[in-house]
Amino acid sequence: MAIQKVGVVGCGLMGSGIAQVSAQAGFPTVVCELSPEVLQKGLGMIQKFLQGGVEKGKVAPYVLDKTMANLKGTTRLEELKDCDLIVEAIVENLAAKKELFGKLDALGKTDAILASNTSSLSITEMSTFVKRPERFVGLHFFNPVPLMKLVEVVRTIRTDAAALQETRAWCVAIGKTVVSCGDSTGFVVNRLLVPYMVDAIRVFEQGLASRDDIDNAMKLGCGYPMGPLFLTDYVGLDTTYSICQIMFDEFKEERFAAPPLLKRMVLAGLHGRKSGRGFYDWSTNPPS
Ligand code: 3HC
Repeated sequence: MAIQKVGVVGCGLMGSGIAQVSAQAGFPTVVCELSPEVLQKGLGMIQKFLQGGVEKGKVAPYVLDKTMANLKGTTRLEELKDCDLIVEAIVENLAAKKELFGKLDALGKTDAILASNTSSLSITEMSTFVKRPERFVGLHFFNPVPLMKLVEVVRTIRTDAAALQETRAWCVAIGKTVVSCGDSTGFVVNRLLVPYMVDAIRVFEQGLASRDDIDNAMKLGCGYPMGPLFLTDYVGLDTTYSICQIMFDEFKEERFAAPPLLKRMVLAGLHGRKSGRGFYDWSTNPPS
């Protein structure tokens, strides 16, 4: 196993999940955040998830202890200098990612694999921010990371076969199933999922059916675990809107265009689960 030690930058929803599954699989994992508060919140989410797993009988108590022992939280990027794989899971902003990858590149471990968990930005463009684009990959995880089995491993024209093989082996070691794909905006899942989610918003906007009927239609008619409007809340309306913008910009196809209602809801601060309200009210349990 070429990858022995893992770094994760960003300890939000995705970063904390990635750090958790890595540490849970036995890899010493360093997770870095800018602010101590966000770091503590992320580490708290990991502890809470594992504790929930213990209570459900899904996680053995020693796994909780072992996972937390394998995890190290830091606000100093230098602490990632001996990691074999570093996964970036920060804000979806190319300028911020460019700055970060420049710093990671300067840490000096020449054979480290650098990866981005971006959902829609170009892996190829990001690979130009580092000295060794052949060791740069996309690693797209799904929310909630500990429960979703898939990782998309994204190669660019310049990614070398060894880096891909090492990355895939690590994904398998952390219990994920790999789908390999080229660097096209949205990869496989978001290319198919985003038009479906925004079509559901259009159907709702046009008054064809109520929120609950749209969600029940897809849950009960197609066996999906969540209806599309609930899922949009779950992913975040702001995130969905931003992915739409990037995908529309890339493909100029109407099916990726953000519906006016999505834009209005984002402008109004209705970002879904993270803000407490979207298509559903998340202050109640279950959301209403
Ligand atoms: N520890 C361990 N296991 C746990 C757990 C915990 N803390 N919490 C739950 N589990 C287990 C449960 O025991 C259950 O296991 P079982 O199937 O063996 O019984 C399983 O996980 C499911 O948990 P629940 O029964 O509590 O919850 P649900 O059945 O409601 O499933 C869900 C939750 C997995 C989130 C499901 O609703 C789902 O798959 N939703 C769709 C999510 C999705 O589509 N995500 C992708 C979004 S797109 C994305 O991320 C890409 C981005 O770029 C936009």
